[in-house]
Amino acid sequence: MKTQNLEKPWTDVELDQRAIAILRENEWGDYTLPTWGLYPYQWNWDSMFVALGFSEFDLDRAWREVETLFQGQWNNGMAAHIVFRRDDPSYFPGPKIWNSGQNPPTSGCSQPPVAATIVRDLYEADSEVGLPWLKMIFPKLMAWHRWFHTMRVISGGSAIAVTHPWESGRDNSPDWDLALSNVDPSGIAPYERRDIEHVDPAMRPTNEEYDRYLKLVEYGRESGWDHAHITREGPFAVADPGVSFILMRSDKDLLELAKILNAEDSAKEIKSWLYHAEEATDYLWSEELGAYAARDLRTDEHASGVSSVAFLSYYAGVSTPRRDAKLQATLRRILKATRFSLPSFDPEHPKFDARRYWRGPVWAIVNYMVARGLSEYGFEREARKLQVDTRAAIRESGFYEYFNPINGRGAGGNQFAWTAAIWLAWASPTTE
Ligand code: GLC
Repeated sequence: MKTQNLEKPWTDVELDQRAIAILRENEWGDYTLPTWGLYPYQWNWDSMFVALGFSEFDLDRAWREVETLFQGQWNNGMAAHIVFRRDDPSYFPGPKIWNSGQNPPTSGCSQPPVAATIVRDLYEADSEVGLPWLKMIFPKLMAWHRWFHTMRVISGGSAIAVTHPWESGRDNSPDWDLALSNVDPSGIAPYERRDIEHVDPAMRPTNEEYDRYLKLVEYGRESGWDHAHITREGPFAVADPGVSFILMRSDKDLLELAKILNAEDSAKEIKSWLYHAEEATDYLWSEELGAYAARDLRTDEHASGVSSVAFLSYYAGVSTPRRDAKLQATLRRILKATRFSLPSFDPEHPKFDARRYWRGPVWAIVNYMVARGLSEYGFEREARKLQVDTRAAIRESGFYEYFNPINGRGAGGNQFAWTAAIWLAWASPTTE
């Protein structure tokens, strides 16, 4: 495996070339690993951002990335969060622990559904090339979105639940602290973490969190991965602004795709999902925090602080003048608090930790989505700041998994595929 052996400072053209090389080096046939060692399989939303990166220089390869992700789709519609295909001892928990009963083997939960939005982007990049791909992938997207809107909703409510922190894509965010503290990890099978063999433990979730992650996997496995049951009765169900807003955005893009295909019944179904999603945003809003925030569906308690995904409301197309005024004030405060935006958790909150994964660090993919939404609503200055800060962190440190918001230093895995992809699709000055 090659490393970043260029002399610093890197020019933007060198970074462009390096980003393309990372996507190529992380390829495994027609899918792409997030990074070697730490994540040796296909991850759901990683793969879709990677497809966006590939679309900058190899559109056909981008579509194939989407196609391979859906090889891990279950009969009930769920596109799994990890598609394993083989057993690699450098990662835990692997296919045997999940025991999903799928072929190829997968994990038992999903991940933020960015796919429909990215499929629309790929289609719009070249509609002639894209049309046959779109026809093939559209029904799979419909089935997956239907799964979220039926299997991850508790009757009587409309908020989308995550039933494992891994389903949110933001594993150890303080958003899950309250709900995780109600998960009793006793009785879990002994295990050995592999992630901290690759990365400094101070940058990763704690052992207490890991025990609970595994408890939730054991619970799911013992239920035979009955998703409706897990959502209704399981030990953990939290309404996540991240998944909810990403799904809403994707529903809207899926609706546009349905129109292109003249799929009238599908369009009708998507409109009914969107109708209920609007209600869900009321559930997520916290007047006290001045932001949308995760909310435990078992206790109705809101998370104690603001995560970066709160600002995905614009990306989702959700806007009400009174809430937006408050949300903008919260955003301005957070943008001022650290040199590099957007910290994944409020830097003025006691739980903020500049190095630990989703408890503070900056993630390029979140910046990209938040900025896209802000820009669509005319908040150009804030959107621009997210772009130049992402650019600066990558110039400073290279293609790390995430970045310290105080000094821009890279953290977690290196030669990271989605960071390279976001550079190519958005952060590099050569995209302008
Ligand atoms: C971590 C991240 C998740 C990502 C995965 C692979 O689990 O929290 O969002 O998909 O790594 O990069």
